[in-house]
Amino acid sequence: MEILIERDYDAVCERASAVVREAVKKKPSLVLGLATGKTPVGLYERLRKSTTSFKAVRFFNLDELYGVGPEHEESFNHFLRVNLLDHLKVPEKNVKLLRGDVKDLDKAAEDYEKAIKKAGGIDLQILGVGNNGHIAFNEPGSSLGSRTRPKTLTDETLAQYRKPGKEPVSNFALTMGCGTIMDARRLLMIVSGEGKSAVVREFIEGPVTAEIPASVLQFHPSALVILDEAAASKLKRRDYYKWVASNKWRAGQK
Ligand code: F6R
Repeated sequence: MEILIERDYDAVCERASAVVREAVKKKPSLVLGLATGKTPVGLYERLRKSTTSFKAVRFFNLDELYGVGPEHEESFNHFLRVNLLDHLKVPEKNVKLLRGDVKDLDKAAEDYEKAIKKAGGIDLQILGVGNNGHIAFNEPGSSLGSRTRPKTLTDETLAQYRKPGKEPVSNFALTMGCGTIMDARRLLMIVSGEGKSAVVREFIEGPVTAEIPASVLQFHPSALVILDEAAASKLKRRDYYKWVASNKWRAGQK
């Protein structure tokens, strides 16, 4: 796992946007996995304002709330369209997002796995982490080998997503599994804020455990985690990661 520590949230988004744009430049038909949530908002803002062409990029996403259609304003489909996809002029055939308004969740999950395979696998998957260590909606206790499937959300996650004064829109979700995520060729996790510093310490420097699903990233051959100073504040080897980042030993590494 490669750890990059940036000054603040803006710098995290700037760096992550450079990673995505570089990947699209190298492979215009990149298969890009998107994440929802507060953290990628600044990254998507930069991508939609960039001059990079996304018209050949193929898009998947990590998860969707059960029972809500793509038009629902709390759906992840809606979030991704408003924050990114509507601005990129991507042909609809290149966008394969999970839907929450399907009748047969198990079949939708199976079809999604097949669609990822048919696209040649995910090249670059964007990730965030929940306060309880979830990635996508793989809640603590999820199998680290799990595939796309329906999942019941924990109270902690429901609280994270609840709009003030409103009931949660759903207690269930469809989510890529930890195994599906681990199959992506590259992972790009972004994390910001002091509130995430404890879970950051656990998933980067603690044991690999289903109790902290994000810890499975330790097994990935190409996982980049970009943190701001606040999120990195509890890391034991913080200075070492910074030293490594500014003293890459391999010639030509950026
Ligand atoms: C969303 C997702 C979640 C979020 C995580 C962090 O698609 O997969 O795992 O990445 O809950 O959310 P924020 O960024 O809102 O803190």
